[in-house]
Amino acid sequence: MELSGFNQSHNSKNQDQTSLGEPYQNFTVVTGVLPSGGNYCELQFHTHGRSANILTFEFMQELGAFLNTTLAEEAEVLVFRSAKPGIFLAGADISMIESITQEEDAIKKAEAGKAVFGRFKALKAKTIAWLNGTCLGGGYELALFCDVIAMNKNPKYKVGLPETKLGIIPGFGGTVLLPRRIGPKSALELILKGKALTPRAAKRLNMVDVLVDEHVVPGPDVCAQMIRKHGQKRTAVSGFKLAFTPLVVYMVRKSIEPMRKNYPALSAVCEVVRQTYFLPESKAFEIENRAFAKTAITETSKNLIRVFNLSESSKKIGRVKTSQPPLATLGVIGGGVMGVGIALSAAKSGIFTRCRDLNLDVVQKSLKSAHKSSRKVWSRWAADVQRNLRLQTDPYGFDGLDCVIEAVFEDLDVKHKVFSELESVISKDCILVTNTSSLPLSEVGAKLKHPERFAGLHFFNPVLRMPLVEVIQGKQTDPEIIDRLCQFVVKLGKFPLVCQDTSGFVVNRMLGMYLNEGVQLLADGVAPARMEKLAKNFGLPMGPLRLLDEIGIDIGNHVARILFEQHGDRYAVPAGLDQMIQAGRLGRKTQKGFYTYDSKKPSLDESYCQSIAKHVARGQAPVSVTDEDIKDRLILPMLAEGCRLVNEKVVSGPEWIDVGMVFGAGFPPYKGGIMAYAKSLGVTYVEDRLHTFSERFSYAERFTFAKEREVLHML
Ligand code: NAI
Repeated sequence: MELSGFNQSHNSKNQDQTSLGEPYQNFTVVTGVLPSGGNYCELQFHTHGRSANILTFEFMQELGAFLNTTLAEEAEVLVFRSAKPGIFLAGADISMIESITQEEDAIKKAEAGKAVFGRFKALKAKTIAWLNGTCLGGGYELALFCDVIAMNKNPKYKVGLPETKLGIIPGFGGTVLLPRRIGPKSALELILKGKALTPRAAKRLNMVDVLVDEHVVPGPDVCAQMIRKHGQKRTAVSGFKLAFTPLVVYMVRKSIEPMRKNYPALSAVCEVVRQTYFLPESKAFEIENRAFAKTAITETSKNLIRVFNLSESSKKIGRVKTSQPPLATLGVIGGGVMGVGIALSAAKSGIFTRCRDLNLDVVQKSLKSAHKSSRKVWSRWAADVQRNLRLQTDPYGFDGLDCVIEAVFEDLDVKHKVFSELESVISKDCILVTNTSSLPLSEVGAKLKHPERFAGLHFFNPVLRMPLVEVIQGKQTDPEIIDRLCQFVVKLGKFPLVCQDTSGFVVNRMLGMYLNEGVQLLADGVAPARMEKLAKNFGLPMGPLRLLDEIGIDIGNHVARILFEQHGDRYAVPAGLDQMIQAGRLGRKTQKGFYTYDSKKPSLDESYCQSIAKHVARGQAPVSVTDEDIKDRLILPMLAEGCRLVNEKVVSGPEWIDVGMVFGAGFPPYKGGIMAYAKSLGVTYVEDRLHTFSERFSYAERFTFAKEREVLHML
């Protein structure tokens, strides 16, 4: 037996503890003597071969084996903690869940997990889950089986059950035990949203029993005391409160009605809570096992896991090692909606940022609107923003910055002028970036003296909320600059999508198809409400008309024209937008567009939409279309454009189109992305439909699908 590093902690009383060498690969066992003379035992988790602790198959096997040893049986206090910084347990191994295709297999896995955790209760030891880091999913379910849940106070740590985000329900006991611990209403809200809480918020809800200071580590004395104080009564909600479960479930289920159809795990959670609230644990667990199994084999779950994996791949490209240090200082030129959003994002992420505009009143206005839309979280950022953000009208300090992003008007001459001024001020190592939404980099950077240090970062509006940033590589951009920009994007808590230079990049090229098709469908005589509803039912955040209103009809029209000039006839600009601009109906910003925004809820202005439809149709007779036609006409031209982007090598593979569509355009995650959706439809169906549309409807170019069809065969 060797002495563990454990003894070097703050707690001098820990000197009586001993590490048992390394008989296990996934945790270290440390023993000690309690003040009462009884045995103290601590498991320090370090999942083998993984950067974070997760419940792999081997982990669970080893834990099960350990619980059968005399060491476990003779312990009076058994403590679980992490040996890895910042993470207690991140949950079950997702690849294990992904591989489940049979209900019986899923039931066996859920039973096996519960059998291991259920052993805690058969031991004479009192158990403590000491959450010295983030604890999610199966990790928190392990904790729920313990007598005491302690958590370090660090607000960076989170605790929760995010399983529904992967299309499954918590299957290691969480759906049964959490409502009994914190009440059905709070439990349902947490599980359905998959929300993770800070230690303080978790304590308020009774998800954890006790908060401990960051520097306190477990040991025989501390834990004996904790057991004395918190180990006797197992905090649980009263039977009286639980009796209201059916009513609570009914109300919660109603509140998530629109989501339930596309996300079956949500209904499954409600059903398990409703059926099990008064059952003995063993019976309740059987119901949970079956419900878990049903959700684990759904296509929705596989698609949501795909989206999770996409997000991980995206974050990974931001972790590439570079020879130059990460960007620490930033300049932003232009304090409009985008400039201020970018500056705030950087400042709140700890990057010193100077934001320059010609007019500080405009900047104040942009700041106010950013504050309005992020009111709930603003206080969390306030200190960092105050420390890191400088607003200015002069170029003071720009000579020492690591990177400068321009976010001025979408006008080539203005952008050329800004860059020419910047090049005379900045240092030789400073990276220059444009946030253009539609102009090709080759044109924006055409007059630069050093195009090798120039790239694009396309942020989305509203910057503070949108998770995607397209990182654009110009023909001459130094590849290491792209790596550093990806690092920067990940530092902002966003997902980078690297693409080659093309007007509209990935997301706007695809959304351009959607928006144009929406206006064309209107001209073909489709009732606007019908189309908008079909788009929403599919799971898109909004119909094409509403999206145009949100973007602004003038901006939408401007971008549409650029896409048309750059890419040709398949981007033919819908005629009605000019008329709307002349009428001052610019969308939400003028309170009127396809919708009106006078009341709290936007309302579709059907008669105005009809007048635009007439204008666009130019006397052409309405065509008869089915709901399926409408849906396919909105989605398949986008898909065809996605294939073109892959074919043109704008992105390195079809999965990146999905990254763009899910995180940049809100394509429904339950479909797994537009490419995964195409795969589910089948190549023949997609080709046949596009071919039929090209023969039936005007402007056939947008349905033309030639060599890019090969991309579908790659899926
Ligand atoms: P905006 O019109 O809100 O702001 C532009 C700002 O630039 C104004 O405050 C103006 O005073 C300032 N400005 C102009 N010339 C300047 C100069 N020489 N020096 C300093 N400041 C100067 O524009 P917005 O919407 O913020 O767009 C900026 C850029 O971001 C454009 O290229 C646009 O295409 C792009 N973009 C816009 C998105 C949007 O949804 N608004 C989305 C993604 C990109």
